[in-house]
Amino acid sequence: MERTLILAKPDALQRGLVGEIVARFERRGLRIAGLKLMRVSTALAQEHYKEHAGKPFFNGLVEYITTCPIVAMVVEGPGAIELARTMIGATNPANAAPGSIRGDLGASIGRNLVHGSDSTASAAREVSLFFKADELLGYERASDPWIFES
Ligand code: RTP
Ligand code: MG
Repeated sequence: MERTLILAKPDALQRGLVGEIVARFERRGLRIAGLKLMRVSTALAQEHYKEHAGKPFFNGLVEYITTCPIVAMVVEGPGAIELARTMIGATNPANAAPGSIRGDLGASIGRNLVHGSDSTASAAREVSLFFKADELLGYERASDPWIFES
């Protein structure tokens, strides 16, 4: 079982696509363990994207993610980190496969709608940046495919 951090970025809220994005993870079989509407502070944005500090797009990226509220979500399931990255698609929507979120809904690398953690270490770090332990809740979904595995 893995947990990963998903962010519906400001353009997802501005375009009214939060429901669509949440629904895709639910329908794929991932379970929502945490979910909230929040504003990202500049400090949180810089910490979250610190691997990109100093790159030409860094300041614009921080400005973008702090423009308006986001929806932060933790989803969980077997292989959730890689599965979510595949569902999200390539960073540049121009290269994202049709059927992925960016491939279906995105048009620009600087407004690519959604974030997903890219490794086990990133997921652990990012989940704890955005959520307190008591904001993550467990429960069983009747349709969880793994519940029925022997
Ligand atoms: P994310 O972290 O948001 O899930 O995106 P990602 O892993 O697919 O891409 P990453 O390399 O981590 O880049 C983070 C965000 O920075 C913006 N970016 N712009 N102009 C550029 O060359 C460029 N490269 C990256 C994108 O908005 C990307 O989502
Ligand atoms: Mg990334």
